[in-house]
Amino acid sequence: MTLNRQSIHGEWSSRWAFVLAATGAAVGLGNIWKFPYIAGENGGGAFVIIYLICILVIGIPLMMAEIMLGRRGRQNPAATMASVAEESGASRHWGLVGGLGILAGFLILSYYSVIAGWALNYVFKAAAGDFTNASAQQIGALFSNLVASPWQLLFWHSIIMLTTMLVVARGVRQGLEKTIVFMFPIMLILLVILVAYSMSSGYFEQGLAFLFHPKFAQLSPEGTLDALGHAFFTLSLATGSIMMYGAYLPKNASITRASVAIAAADTGIALIAGLAIFPIVFANGLQPGAGPGLIFQTLPIAFGHMPMGRMFATFFFMMLVFAAFTSTLSLLEPSVAWCIERFHMSRVRATVIISSLIWLLGIGTVLSFNVWKNVHLFGMDVFDFMDYLTANIMLPLGGLLIVIFTAWFMRQEAKLDELQIKKGFIYYKWRLTMRYVAPVAILIVFLKFLGIF
Ligand code: PHE
Repeated sequence: MTLNRQSIHGEWSSRWAFVLAATGAAVGLGNIWKFPYIAGENGGGAFVIIYLICILVIGIPLMMAEIMLGRRGRQNPAATMASVAEESGASRHWGLVGGLGILAGFLILSYYSVIAGWALNYVFKAAAGDFTNASAQQIGALFSNLVASPWQLLFWHSIIMLTTMLVVARGVRQGLEKTIVFMFPIMLILLVILVAYSMSSGYFEQGLAFLFHPKFAQLSPEGTLDALGHAFFTLSLATGSIMMYGAYLPKNASITRASVAIAAADTGIALIAGLAIFPIVFANGLQPGAGPGLIFQTLPIAFGHMPMGRMFATFFFMMLVFAAFTSTLSLLEPSVAWCIERFHMSRVRATVIISSLIWLLGIGTVLSFNVWKNVHLFGMDVFDFMDYLTANIMLPLGGLLIVIFTAWFMRQEAKLDELQIKKGFIYYKWRLTMRYVAPVAILIVFLKFLGIF
C-alpha cells in the first residue's frame, strides 16, 4: 500500500538537496575533530578497522531504515515511529524510541555547539596570524587560555546557537536547504585544497601507517565501544537527524543509493581528515593521543611554520566551522519539529524555545573546561559525560531498537514500498543484516564492554 502523508514542514526541493543535507549532517566535527582524536587515543589502525566494519554492517543498513521510516511517517521521529508502528499493527510505544533519538540530538547539540565555538574562535586566531612562528608552548597556551575562560567559550557557543537558531527558524527550504547548498560545496573545496597541502608535507606515509596498520593488542573493549558509538555519531544515526531529514525526502528518490553515497562521503572525509592531520602530527613530533584538543593544539603549530600557513590555517578552521554548522542544523531540527507538532506552535517560537534550552545546557560543557573542571559525574567531567552518555550509550541503544523495530515489527509491504526495491538480492541482504547481523554485532560490543562476553 502506498501512503501519501505530507510533512507539515515541507520537503527538500530535490533528492540532491536531500543527499547534500544528509551528507552535511553526517560530515562535521565528528569527522575532523573527533575521529582523529579517538583514533589517536585508541592506537589507530585496529580502531579504524572496527569503525569501518561498523559503518558497513550497521551504519548503512540503519541509515536506509531511518530514511525509510522518516519518509513513511513524515513527522518528527517520535510521531513517525509511533505511526509506522501503528500502521504495522505494533504498539505506538515505539514512538519512545524516536523520542530517545530526539533527546540524544538535543543533548549532543549542547556540547557540539561549544566545540564548534572553538573552531569559530580559531578562524579569527588564524586570520590574525596568531600561529605564525609560534612554538608548541605558545600554541598550547592559546588553547588553554581559550578553554580556561568561561566567558569566551560562552560567547562563541552563543554565536553558534544563535546562527543555528536563525537558520532553523526559517524552515526546511528557506533555512536549512539554502544554507546547506551554499556551505557544503565551499567546505568540500577547502578540504580538497588542504589535503593537497598536507600530502606535500612529506609525512604522508606515517599517517597512512598509523591509520591503517592494525595493532589489535592496543584495542580495548572500551575502544571497540568507542568505534561503534562513533559510527553512529558520525553518520548522525539514532539522533533523529537522519529520520527527520528522511521525512522531507521527495517520494521518488532511491533510499539505497542515497544511503550508500552519504556513508561513503562521510567515511571518505573522515579518512581524508585523518590523512591530512596525522602527517602533520608526526612531522612535528606531536602526540596522536592528545584528546579533544588534538587538532587545536597540534595543527596550528604546523600551520605556523609552513609557507602560506596563515591562509591555510584560516581555510582549515573555516572549513571546520562550515562542516559543523551543517550538522548543528540537523541536530536542532528534530526537537524543533517535535515541539511544533506536539504543541501546535509556530516554528519561530519552537526554535527560540528549544535553542534557548540547548544553549543553557551547553553552559555545563562550557564550565567543564574551567570552573567545573573538578566536578565529576561517574568519574567524567560534564563534557566527557555528555559525550559518553550520548555517543556510547544512547546512540547504540537507540540504533539497536530502531533495527529491531524495522526488522521484526514493520510490515514488509511498507518497507518494500518505501525502499522501492523488488524482493531481490539487495532486499534480502538488507533484511538479513537488519534481522541478525546488526543487532548481534551491537549486542556483542555492549556485552563485551560490560565484561559479560
Ligand atoms: N555526524 C555529525 C558529525 O560527525 C554529528 C551529528 C551527530 C550530527 C548526530 C547530527 C546528529 O560531526
